[in-house]
Amino acid sequence: MTASNPKTPIGVGVIGCGEIAQLMHLPVIHELPELRLAALCDLSRTVLDTLGAQYGVTACYQEYQALLDDPAVDAVVICTFDHGPVVEAAIKAGKHFIVEKPLAFTSEEARPLVKAANESGLVGIVGYMKLYDPGYRLGLEKIGQIGRPKMIQVHDFAGRFDRYQQLYTQVRGKDVDMELIKATQADVAARVATGLGQAHAGYADLYMTLLMLGSHDLAVLRGAFGVAERVDYAQAVGPTHIMAVLGFPDRVPALLEVAFGAQYEWWDEWMTVHGEKDEVRIDFQNPYVRNAAATVRVREAAGEGASERILPGTPETAFRRQWQHFIACVEGKAAPLTPLQGGLDDLELAERIIKALPVKPGGGQA
Ligand SMILES: NC(=O)c1ccc[n+]([C@@H]2O[C@H](COP(=O)([O-])OP(=O)(O)OC[C@H]3O[C@@H](n4cnc5c(N)ncnc54)[C@H](O)[C@@H]3O)[C@@H](O)[C@H]2O)c1
Repeated sequence: MTASNPKTPIGVGVIGCGEIAQLMHLPVIHELPELRLAALCDLSRTVLDTLGAQYGVTACYQEYQALLDDPAVDAVVICTFDHGPVVEAAIKAGKHFIVEKPLAFTSEEARPLVKAANESGLVGIVGYMKLYDPGYRLGLEKIGQIGRPKMIQVHDFAGRFDRYQQLYTQVRGKDVDMELIKATQADVAARVATGLGQAHAGYADLYMTLLMLGSHDLAVLRGAFGVAERVDYAQAVGPTHIMAVLGFPDRVPALLEVAFGAQYEWWDEWMTVHGEKDEVRIDFQNPYVRNAAATVRVREAAGEGASERILPGTPETAFRRQWQHFIACVEGKAAPLTPLQGGLDDLELAERIIKALPVKPGGGQA
């Protein structure tokens, strides 16, 4: 299927109208004049009826293939749980797409998606919205000014995920086929176990933490320093807490720490780059809070003493910047900043990190 070049407004279909679609993607699609919300897809009829009425959309589908067959849909955003099969179908249907992270659940299933997307000429990006955050972009500029890093640290303990529920109204539907949900989860678990291999399938929870929470951090690190050359060390601190030491060119080490479940009242996700004389730290904000960009802290020499400056990123919603970039790509004015290859690189690295842990066979899954 060859890529089409739709005129704006671009007709967008949303596949999977759950939390992230409702909190971020739908409001942004609705407000950007270059986009037109053309169709919705979800397993829940309640969700479809409510959001269809709210956004004035009549093309509401419970099967994603039906949405992909709709000629009014030029592009889709994929916000389901199991993305790989939907990405494959979107490419076959000739639709441009944003796929929420992770691109897929294993590198093996991601590899053909990257190839198919490249061959299609379609615009396909992974929803690593933090890479579009103005504070992160500013931080990259500052990192570029401090010379060869002595050491990099990336830390993500996240924070309370229930707080933002007071900020937004969400519709959830109980009218979903639970057998289908369970079957999808079981299928994904089996694919993950196969991807990790019998010797490491016992780390499936930790791997999922790396994919669901930590893939942002792998992407942030890669966005600044490229793909890690080595995994020198990995330690499972708990079922959802991992530490790893990665190696970058020129013998630059990076300490990565990701843990899910902290109940902090702040959002605890940052990258610090230690230079010879300076230090740059990027503090990410809670991803569910709109118009909150990352902040950058620069420590450097000032005469005979030290200076510490906090540089706020321009107030902006990273998801909105991501959509604006996507529009520019579809219009042929930009090349994807977060192409599918990066999603594959991160899956490969996540697998390498898990395989650097001591052997832990999974309970007969693999
Ligand atoms: N970029 C970010 O910061 C960010 C934040 C949260 C979630 N996410 C990603 O977004 C995705 C969705 O997360 P969420 O928190 O919105 O989950 P969710 O469970 O709230 O929503 C998923 C929705 O998809 C629907 N769905 C599932 N399978 C479907 C299918 N086959 N066809 C149609 N609809 C289907 C479900 O009914 C549900 O409404 C996940 O992959 C997650 O990793 C990204």
